[in-house]
Amino acid sequence: MIQQQLGEAFAARYGERPAWLVRAPGRVNLIGEHTDYNDGFVMPIAIDRAVWLALRPTGGRQVTITSLDMNERAAFELEELHHGQQGWLEYVKGVAWALQEQGYALAGWEGVMAGDVPIGAGLSSSAAVEMAAARAFAAVAPFDWHPVTMARIGQAAENRWMGVNSGIMDQLISAAAEADHALLIDCRSLETEAIRLPTGTAVVILDTDTRRGLVDSAYNERRRQCERAAAFFEADALRDVDLATLKARGTALDEPVRKRARHVITENRRVLQAKAAMGQDDAQRLGRLLDASHRSLRDDFEVSSPALDLMVALAQAHEACYGARMTGAGFGGCAVALVRGDAASVETFIHQVGAAYQEQLDLTPDLFVCRAAQGTSLLPGSQ
Ligand code: GLA
Repeated sequence: MIQQQLGEAFAARYGERPAWLVRAPGRVNLIGEHTDYNDGFVMPIAIDRAVWLALRPTGGRQVTITSLDMNERAAFELEELHHGQQGWLEYVKGVAWALQEQGYALAGWEGVMAGDVPIGAGLSSSAAVEMAAARAFAAVAPFDWHPVTMARIGQAAENRWMGVNSGIMDQLISAAAEADHALLIDCRSLETEAIRLPTGTAVVILDTDTRRGLVDSAYNERRRQCERAAAFFEADALRDVDLATLKARGTALDEPVRKRARHVITENRRVLQAKAAMGQDDAQRLGRLLDASHRSLRDDFEVSSPALDLMVALAQAHEACYGARMTGAGFGGCAVALVRGDAASVETFIHQVGAAYQEQLDLTPDLFVCRAAQGTSLLPGSQ
């Protein structure tokens, strides 16, 4: 278990138990893709895979972290933040930078970090590192932990320190998730509502064993296209444009921009329909919405890939599956499926879909069930 491994690694290095353990989960998005930066709706789940930090305050102004996964030790001064080479450390620095920019007084700490969120798979390992770092800084400084405020700090780190123009979804679900629930997030008001998954269902993550290349430029391009479409309709964001308006007036838009707008507008509607389906405990309907989301991401938003399309088609064809779609930014990484929740169905689904995928592509997929986990938490290190 990571928690135990981390406590032992900390004790071996520092000769005592850590003051705290921090756990920040990765996420899978059930529905609502590429809607967050359009002020829209998303419905992610925090997964039971996380980034963990064991730490103690130093009383100084330095942060020193050993990454067990990277087998690296690195440090930085809170007064002198410079961009460096270790990717994982940059997220921590970015959070320190964003917190200080917002006027938080930070104090130094040292610790050990490890995690089991696959990196670059679209399960938000970077947002998990950011939220773990924010939770650590809050414990050491100390200051109050407000999930929404800290998610914004994480997003600022991502946008302005890392240079990736992402929305708020990943940080907010990692910070604010509720166990056993998906979280409906209104990305304009940042209000959240915990929603139960339909009875007797399981969420399965299907890692295609492909990693997204050039995703940042494609992502930023999609974002610009959405902004162009919103500006064309003189709206603050595509959230404010409806399908009738797009149909009536959208013919003057370039074809790709019109398609991007159609995805965002229909996807926002699907998220609200998914909420209604979940309220009625209707797994079939929720599944059909996932399928429709995939079609829209593939054909209109054009962020899927042949591997994702194959994985989704195989999942959808399985008799235990209610629906499936690619999840996250796209171009590779993971799909998500809603499956009948009994152990035998989940097991055959994972086995048969994984085997069929592997047979068609020379890749090693990883399919696993996820339980909806609690958001970022702080535990006493003596546990
Ligand atoms: C990435 C971004 C999120 C969101 C998704 C697509 O995960 O970090 O903000 O835009 O892509 O839904």
